[in-house]
Amino acid sequence: MQLVILDSAQAIAQRAADEIEALLKDKPAAVLGTATGSSPLPLYDELTARCAAGRLSFAEVTGFMLDEYVGLPAGHPERYATFMETNLRSRVDMRPGALHGPDALSEDLEAACRDYEAQMAAAGYCDLQILGIGSDGHIGFNEPGGALDSRTHLGELHEQTRRDNARFFGGDVEAVPTQCITQGLATIMEARKLVLIATGEGKAEAIAQLVEGEVSTQWPATVMQRHDDALVLVDPAAASRLT
Ligand code: F6R
Repeated sequence: MQLVILDSAQAIAQRAADEIEALLKDKPAAVLGTATGSSPLPLYDELTARCAAGRLSFAEVTGFMLDEYVGLPAGHPERYATFMETNLRSRVDMRPGALHGPDALSEDLEAACRDYEAQMAAAGYCDLQILGIGSDGHIGFNEPGGALDSRTHLGELHEQTRRDNARFFGGDVEAVPTQCITQGLATIMEARKLVLIATGEGKAEAIAQLVEGEVSTQWPATVMQRHDDALVLVDPAAASRLT
């Protein structure tokens, strides 16, 4: 695992975009794993700018989202499908329908999990997976205590995550769903390259555990230590508890 500390969220976005630009030059029909939340937003702005400038193209890219809330109706602004459509897919030249997510509106959520894992397997999994990290060390919505070898599954959001995400729901923690569908840790680990972005003091403990802790279900992101091409991009605040 490679750790790079950069001065600003903008510098992190540029470095992550460099990785994606290099991938797309080499493989225009790459499979890209996308994360939601605030951490990748500067990256999606940077990718949009590079696409507009003709430096890269998503025309042949297939995308797979990491996760989705259960219980939000179609079109809800905080559904991750809406988020990805608004913040990336519609801003670049990616084909409509090329960015896939788990079907959290399905009446059979277990089947939706199996289907999503199968779709990813059929696509050969991700060439590059963008990740954020929760303050409790989750990646995707793999919360502490879950199995390190999990596949796409139905999960419960921990209280800490619901509190962290209440800012997207007008500050109302009760409005944050309790359930989600998420790629499992083993699904995420199938990606040929992992690029994790973390900014701010709130991520400092999770980053210290990720970089310096033992691999443990208590800090799910630590499984990334077992990946042979994982890049962790952090700002000085997120790096502040590293020894
Ligand atoms: C989002 C996701 C989560 C977030 C994490 C950090 O698809 O899977 O793991 O990356 O909760 O969220 P932010 O970036 O909002 O702090």
